[in-house]
Amino acid sequence: MYCVHVVGARPNFMKAAPVVRALAQEPGMRQSLVHTGQHYDQNMSDVFFRELEIPEPDFNLAVGSGTHAHQTGQIMMRFEPVVEKFRPDWVLVYGDVNSTIAAALVCSKLRIRVAHVEAGLRSFDRGMPEEINRLLTDQIADLLFTPSEDGNQNLLREGVPAERIRLVGNVMIDTLVRLLPKAAASLPQGLPRQYALVTLHRPSNVDDPEMLRPILQVLDGISHELPVIFPVHPRTRQRIEQLGFRAGENLHFWEPQSYLQFLGLQQRATVVITDSGGIQEETTFLGVPCLTLRDSTERPITVTVGTNVLLGHDLERLRSEVCAILRGQTKQSATPPLWDGHAAERIANIISAG
Ligand code: UD1
Repeated sequence: MYCVHVVGARPNFMKAAPVVRALAQEPGMRQSLVHTGQHYDQNMSDVFFRELEIPEPDFNLAVGSGTHAHQTGQIMMRFEPVVEKFRPDWVLVYGDVNSTIAAALVCSKLRIRVAHVEAGLRSFDRGMPEEINRLLTDQIADLLFTPSEDGNQNLLREGVPAERIRLVGNVMIDTLVRLLPKAAASLPQGLPRQYALVTLHRPSNVDDPEMLRPILQVLDGISHELPVIFPVHPRTRQRIEQLGFRAGENLHFWEPQSYLQFLGLQQRATVVITDSGGIQEETTFLGVPCLTLRDSTERPITVTVGTNVLLGHDLERLRSEVCAILRGQTKQSATPPLWDGHAAERIANIISAG
């Protein structure tokens, strides 16, 4: 059997890594890896391949940045001849980025079977480009691997036949479980005993200066009580520079961190403040309080079961929640079912059987 994996952006890499490893154990399995080049900076891509021990991509489509239409179109045009030449038995796509929908769409037109890893998640906010990518990918994929039961319910409601849906658990947690022991060794020297760890890159938070400026001001205020470490995504870096914002001495803007460094920082953090998707899940698994600056989440289990609290854009509440956490008032939480480090093995068993 021949499988092709398509990855493109930072959050894809930790999801594909365990699936590639698990499929490599299956007898007679051949695999190729296509990197679309959606993320191309050394610290947004290469370092992840090294730390996650993902084999070098067999193809790099080098699409780079652009508008959504440009990026998606370029991926489709460059991926089509590759997949047509090799005609794999399965193409595996991951998550909800532009590379995911672009590759799935190419395959569905060529009648090449597509499996979507991390299917069924819904924020019910079509203002998010990722929500469009999720909805469309799930409609055209042949096999849908869900991380939690809510994913199955969403897909069934949208008319996806039950036989296409498999609840396998969370592959990103597979990577976390495998690499957590190494993460502690990757912590920088001189880290404060307590700190807030921040990531922000959603267009809804960072593209509008009227949104970003007050967030930065509140983070600066929090940093008087609790040092703030903020590894900055390139998109956000550009916006902060445009604002000319000058941070106080306890609000630390860092370069994007590697997987191991960031995992180590999460595990030790007093609180994580984010608008990412995956970090809501990682903090839930680690039992670290997570405050999410979004109106909705496609990962509701992190709120109902885990450590996550959705704050929307309520910055007063952000301040008060951080104070409560500093007083030791944290939410009771548990680990969702099947977030056990073995999701990719379940995927490999299903793929190799069909
Ligand atoms: C993408 C995903 C988002 C994911 C995020 C994680 C989509 C629609 N969005 O958003 O779901 O959470 O990745 O990081 O696919 N840039 C660089 N270097 C890079 C990559 C990007 O400088 O290696 C800059 C470019 O100026 C680019 C901007 O960041 O225009 C945004 O990159 P893009 O890939 O378009 O979207 P992300 O915001 O990273």
